[in-house]
Amino acid sequence: MSEEKCCIVSCDLPLDQTYWDNQYQAKKTGWDLGDVSPPIKSYIDTIENKEAKILIPGCGNTYEAEYLLEQGFTNVTVIDIAPTLVEHLKQKFAENKNITIVLVDFFEHQGTYDFIIEQTFFCALPPTMRQRYVWKMHQLLSDHGKLVGLLFNREFEVSPPFGGNLKEYEQLFRNAFVFNSISIAKNSIPARQNTELFIEFQKNSLTHINLYNFEGITCSGCMNTVIGKFLEIDGVLNVSINTNFTEIIIVSKTEIELKTLQETVVYDEKYKIVKAG
Ligand SMILES: C[S@@+](CC[C@H](N)C(=O)[O-])C[C@H]1O[C@@H](n2cnc3c(N)ncnc32)[C@H](O)[C@@H]1O
Repeated sequence: MSEEKCCIVSCDLPLDQTYWDNQYQAKKTGWDLGDVSPPIKSYIDTIENKEAKILIPGCGNTYEAEYLLEQGFTNVTVIDIAPTLVEHLKQKFAENKNITIVLVDFFEHQGTYDFIIEQTFFCALPPTMRQRYVWKMHQLLSDHGKLVGLLFNREFEVSPPFGGNLKEYEQLFRNAFVFNSISIAKNSIPARQNTELFIEFQKNSLTHINLYNFEGITCSGCMNTVIGKFLEIDGVLNVSINTNFTEIIIVSKTEIELKTLQETVVYDEKYKIVKAG
């Protein structure tokens, strides 16, 4: 387990640009495999269209991108929030026109991609950001685009990384994505054997997915009541609220008016819902 730890400072600090840059400056990158992750390598080998637009967020040393380039892919974008790392990548790939390297917060990034590769980025984010992650992934994928990669199916004593499990992921991504695959990866590296799920989630382009800020929920009982009430609205397919009850994603067949959502929770004056950016 120690192999997975990446904290060099108190993990109570915000997991912001300074935190991540410090990890690279101190060369404390316990997550770094030094090579393309085998399940992702196997998946890349099945992609026929070498011009597919591919994004790797929270790319780190991005052996996945290196492998894509070696295989002849021509439209690879990698993004990361850590300036020290991004500077290094820009030098490393300076001669290669097939890769774009961007220093940016994933949640600010704009674009449209056929594939987004997930490799220990989701687990690096505080769990309170998971709803935002789903919303942003949906936004960045082209119609029928795919989110592909690995999610941990275990918990950790020290975080990051933050763990999770199959049930939680099914609840989180349901209806925003079609689950083409979500099962224990067969060819993980030995240290991660049987602890990671390989996912291929296809964007459900028939659904609307909106992110809202929510105020007033103080316990999981109230959260479940609110979820239940939103699920009763005609056209709502899935509702998921983050772990500190501040963000909510609503997946629906048609656009739901904000007024309808506000009226649904008017029974408790503490509750406030507004659209998030
Ligand atoms: C655990 S590391 C994984 C790196 C790489 N994917 C790998 O497996 O080697 C998480 C990476 O996400 C980056 N990161 C964290 N928050 C980010 C954000 N909001 N936007 C973009 N990158 C972020 C960090 O700088 C770090 O490189």
